[in-house]
Amino acid sequence: LGEKEAELSDEIEQLLTTLPKVKNWNGLELCQYQGFWCGSRYLRGMIKFQRHFEAQHNDIILATFPKCGTTWLKALIFTIANRSKYSLDNSPLLSQCSRELVPSCDQDLFMRDPLPVLEDFPKPRIFATHTLYPSLPKSIKNSNCRIVYICRNPLDQFVSNWKFMLRIRVPNTEPISIDEAFEMACQGKQSFGPIWEHVLGYWKASKEEPHKVLFLKYEDLKENNKFYVKQLADFIGYPFTEDEEKQGKVEEISKFCSFDNMSNLEVNKNGEYFKEIKNDIFFRKGSVGDWKNYLTPSMSEHLEKIIEEKLSGSGLTF
Ligand code: A3P
Repeated sequence: LGEKEAELSDEIEQLLTTLPKVKNWNGLELCQYQGFWCGSRYLRGMIKFQRHFEAQHNDIILATFPKCGTTWLKALIFTIANRSKYSLDNSPLLSQCSRELVPSCDQDLFMRDPLPVLEDFPKPRIFATHTLYPSLPKSIKNSNCRIVYICRNPLDQFVSNWKFMLRIRVPNTEPISIDEAFEMACQGKQSFGPIWEHVLGYWKASKEEPHKVLFLKYEDLKENNKFYVKQLADFIGYPFTEDEEKQGKVEEISKFCSFDNMSNLEVNKNGEYFKEIKNDIFFRKGSVGDWKNYLTPSMSEHLEKIIEEKLSGSGLTF
């Protein structure tokens, strides 16, 4: 490691000893940094991302709150932006999970040593992040790159995350109960939470700079996918031509990236993600309103009330 990197590692280890910590839903450690909660093992990646990522003019940054549709939007943006390079029959998504093709800065690229070399990353460079808007690297804000953000109804996000965390929990540890996880979610204690801070940061940015930040909701994409495939293509600078539209390209891409198609691909059923996580963990139900099967009316009312209060005056509702 270079001297600078070693110094930074020391600095982060030192910082970690000073941060407030709680046990995360999966049994690992969650620490509070710059006003939000972050898995301690990801903090290193995040700080290195903040300090060393150099955005380029045509980069596409996909920012998401965990369990809000990251895997789906990765597939959509990758497919839209690379459609002149690969036909759908030849898509790299047939053999690699979208999470590999569009790596996460804070959770993959900058987590490992040494610092990643990204200058030659295939163009257009598409990177993902869960980092909150105020904590993004300056170069993302100052360059001309585009940010696409997706969020989701916090009740569905909660259930999705609880199910996910149960699957990736520390081996041989007690599974966290839904009540305990819910209590923590209501206090904002989950990876990259509080969710209301996360969505508000990107929501405000999208209002201030609509050409720079596109704010999407999972439910809208589910309901009117073709409309959003077109909107995404326009926003990232790869609009569909009239001919493409006539040929049904928009619909083809929408179907190709759909939950039914993606979750049934062999790579996503049985493949592994960096030999640590099975890809099927990212495909559970893919539906809207599944929270009704898990939350009691008093739980849902409680979280809805918190979200309503936190978002009041912003113009954003779920
Ligand atoms: P559920 O757990 O509710 O099923 P992320 O990718 O941000 O981790 O989010 C995961 C959620 O997105 C999971 O929700 C997963 O099933 C859903 N998902 C994954 N791929 C999808 C797709 N192509 N279309 C719709 N939802 C998808």
